[in-house]
Amino acid sequence: MEIKVFDSYEEISKAASKIIINQVKNKPESILGLATGSSPLGIYKEMIQDHKGNNTTYQNITTFNLDEYYGIKKTHPKSYHYFMKKNLFNHIDIKKENINIPNGVSKEMDIECKEYNDKLEEHQIDIQLLGIGRNGHIGFNEPGTPFDSTTHQVKLDEKTRQDNERFFDSIEEVPHYAITMGIKNILQSKRIILIATGKCKADAVYGMIRGPIDINCPASSLQMHDDVTVFVDKAAASKL
Ligand code: F6R
Repeated sequence: MEIKVFDSYEEISKAASKIIINQVKNKPESILGLATGSSPLGIYKEMIQDHKGNNTTYQNITTFNLDEYYGIKKTHPKSYHYFMKKNLFNHIDIKKENINIPNGVSKEMDIECKEYNDKLEEHQIDIQLLGIGRNGHIGFNEPGTPFDSTTHQVKLDEKTRQDNERFFDSIEEVPHYAITMGIKNILQSKRIILIATGKCKADAVYGMIRGPIDINCPASSLQMHDDVTVFVDKAAASKL
């Protein structure tokens, strides 16, 4: 794992976005694995700015998002579909048909998971963008998730629900379930970029990098991948 420590979130976003933008410039039909939450917002802002200023085109890329809440419609303002449109897709020239996000309202979750996996098997991700949960989760793979897991439905940790309460009006509104790419899917990506900032992520970052490879810290599975770059600020790196 390559660890890059920065002074600010802005610097992290600039450095990480450069890697993604260069990837797309060098290979216009790149396959990108995308995340939601606070961590990638700066990167998406940089990508939009670059698209508008330098005309980098996303016409031929394909994207796969890590996860979606269960039971929330695509049009719901708190859904990850909505988040991605608002924070990235509406501002670049990506084709709608090239966007893949798990369907959290599928009536047949088993079929939804299988179809998402089948698509991932056919499209190896060039760069997978990740954040990390305070509990060490990646995607919504909570502690205890087997490393050979593929796309599946998951019951969210109370810690995760509390962390995500800030995106909702109350804790009651935060869904209890989600659908997520599995750890195996994530590890199949060619390259992985993980962003973590703030003291609240320091224990998880320590577990991911220095801890044993253990299902109790899902991010520790990234030690088994040979092309992971971790972008952290000093607070998130403080326990290393
Ligand atoms: C989001 C996701 C999660 C987040 C993680 C960190 O699609 O899969 O694993 O990356 O919960 O969230 P933030 O960035 O909001 O701290």
